[in-house]
Amino acid sequence: LLHGSRKEEKTLAIIKPDGVSSHYTNKIKAVILESGFAIVREKILQLDEGNATYFYSEHSGKSFFPRLITYMTSGPVCLMVLEKVNAVSDWRTLIGPTDARKAKVSHPTSIRAMCGVDLERNCVHGSDSRESAAREIAFFFGDINTGKGDRKHDEL
Ligand code: TYD
Ligand code: MG
Repeated sequence: LLHGSRKEEKTLAIIKPDGVSSHYTNKIKAVILESGFAIVREKILQLDEGNATYFYSEHSGKSFFPRLITYMTSGPVCLMVLEKVNAVSDWRTLIGPTDARKAKVSHPTSIRAMCGVDLERNCVHGSDSRESAAREIAFFFGDINTGKGDRKHDEL
């Protein structure tokens, strides 16, 4: 029987455009699998201004928002649904702090330290809560249990 604290969780991982173009996808996937996550869905997508703006709407109005949208739409991203016990928080721990430059000092084995550049170009995304994970997974993959609703993006 699955008890609350041992329940499998899903979270959304994104390898951002610089991670894909710098050929970090396979390295990051290896770290994901070595860390005990299952990759249960995966697709490559070119974000447009509309879906990038919606995805990061919590940050709209912030000074870095226009640059964030330009960056996130600058090339294809790799979207993955990761599953494991405590996936949301364990994936955030594995990617490390938002500022990749600081991560190289404070969390040198984190994915952002290894593959990111700075606060803006930090290579990977991770959902920040179970609620965000459910919303973000539904946005990009529809209802992954029924396969319905996954028609609003152009898969590459
Ligand atoms: P945020 O949700 O704060 O970070 P995280 O990705 O760790 O959850 O910010 C979203 C993205 O916005 C972040 O990954 C990189 C970018 N960003 C900037 O470019 N400048 C900033 O000052 C911040 C806070 C974020
Ligand atoms: Mg965030």
